[in-house]
Amino acid sequence: MQELELVVSAVNAATPQIRELRLKAVDGGTLPPFAAGAHVKVRIPGLADARCYSLMSFDASGAAFDAPDEYRLGVRLEEASGGGSRHMHGLGVGDRLGVSSPQNDFPLAVGATGEATTVLIAGGIGITPIASMATALTAAGRPWVLHYSGRSRSQLAFVDELATLAGERLVVHADDDAATRLDIGALLATLSPSQHLYVCGPKGMIDALIEGAKTRGWPAEHIHFELFTAAAPVAGDQAFEVELAQSGQVLTVPADKTILEVLEDAGCDPMYDCKRGECGVCTAAVLEGVPDHRDYFLSDAEKAGGKLIQICISRAKTPRLVLDL
Ligand code: FES
Repeated sequence: MQELELVVSAVNAATPQIRELRLKAVDGGTLPPFAAGAHVKVRIPGLADARCYSLMSFDASGAAFDAPDEYRLGVRLEEASGGGSRHMHGLGVGDRLGVSSPQNDFPLAVGATGEATTVLIAGGIGITPIASMATALTAAGRPWVLHYSGRSRSQLAFVDELATLAGERLVVHADDDAATRLDIGALLATLSPSQHLYVCGPKGMIDALIEGAKTRGWPAEHIHFELFTAAAPVAGDQAFEVELAQSGQVLTVPADKTILEVLEDAGCDPMYDCKRGECGVCTAAVLEGVPDHRDYFLSDAEKAGGKLIQICISRAKTPRLVLDL
């Protein structure tokens, strides 16, 4: 993957928690193109893992996708920041960043939507890839509607630009306003399974949408999503052991770590990418034990079979898992 050195050209406070960063090439030249849903990985000094940020565009001419002269990122300051969002919020104009070329794990199938209205749903900072999708659908002349939800209206970033782009296609929801609070079930009841759903937001929103859409007969290929958070401990999580069959090594996975993190701590070099249970790169074969599946990659049948596990997020229902690693 191409590594770019970019310079911060503008910083805007979109909300008290969200900053917009605009990045340009150091020589001011054109940047690599991207498609709606794409992200870049930003190297953060002192952190082993790069941080992923979706690329935003509100330019319906399409030029910002095909020959961008800047990348626009929206970064929410996370209360439990591991250092990534805090570093990004500390940047000023003129600071330089090492950034990957764009990569897309959340592609928009513009041609697959036919005449049916594409339904875009964003929760909080999940608006960043969804805004680009609204822009791309506009550029392609396809029908769409955007439901944008947050804790309160004041926490919703980029509403003015979205309103300019969307007009009446933008529906704003606020949790603290009973009249507009997003009700996923009620929304789905107004839609048809022939429509494609694209959602980016917190896990609770995505889980509710997937569950509700499946129950109402949506085919899996019409449900598209991207999660913003990596694996997080769930109340009641317990430590368990992992035996690596190829070496015989036995490791303990504490309640607040993933199998992947424990393998890395032990000096192993496991394959991974998203660390959110979406991409499938970290799949491992289970030889013994029962996985506690928490990913979005394996099919229901694969999960029920219990022979595969996403080690970046899933855990164990039994005291020990034996993995073919
Ligand atoms: S790293 Fe993507 S599913 Fe685990």
